[in-house]
Amino acid sequence: MRAGILASTVILAAAQAQLVPFLKTPSHPHMDQQQRPLEADAPGNQLPPFPNAASAQGDVILSDVIGNQRQINIFAGFTRDVSSVSTRLETTGLNTTVLAPSNSALSSLPRKPWENPNDYDSLGAAAYEGQAGEDRAGKNLRRFTEAHVVLASPWKEGEKARNMLGSEVWWENKGGMAVVQPGGVEVERVVSRVANGEVWLLKGVLNYAT
Ligand SMILES: *[C@@H]1O[C@H](CO)[C@@H](O)[C@H](O)[C@H]1NC(C)=O
Repeated sequence: MRAGILASTVILAAAQAQLVPFLKTPSHPHMDQQQRPLEADAPGNQLPPFPNAASAQGDVILSDVIGNQRQINIFAGFTRDVSSVSTRLETTGLNTTVLAPSNSALSSLPRKPWENPNDYDSLGAAAYEGQAGEDRAGKNLRRFTEAHVVLASPWKEGEKARNMLGSEVWWENKGGMAVVQPGGVEVERVVSRVANGEVWLLKGVLNYAT
């Protein structure tokens, strides 16, 4: 509810602003010590338990760290605007792997994540205008974002898991490179590992078509 109208407004504003990254400066007292940016760290060679896993738990959770990486701050904004996702990332009892497309992956999409060609086909250029248009955009953005939230962590190679849309996803090592399937979307690295899950940086986006 709370996110609905706000989100759509932000979305449309961002559309006009060419996806200028939303500003993100969450401050959490434990962030600096506990958040663990893992440079050059693909899941393929990082799946063995993280050496500091125990200390990484602490009380830092995904909602604390999702906004910390500049490379994914557009997607981080989506996770805040979509209430089902922000709730999941705030939940400590359930682990999650967030597959966060990089800003550049999002910017190079042929259409915005909240645009659906079907909407333009049926409604024309005004598809996202007015309240109904905002609602439509919000719904599309929710689908997009939920497609990138996997309901498992740790998430092992080959393990079939589900995203928040209920679709099955897994990842495999292809020539030393971790790729998320279906779609073969390359994982650049794991950017955060906290008590209730991990954030992976993707070089592309997953299919979220309706
Ligand atoms: C959740 O993640 C933590 C940290 O990696 C792990 O210790 C725990 O076993 C996970 N729980 C489940 C149910 O997967």
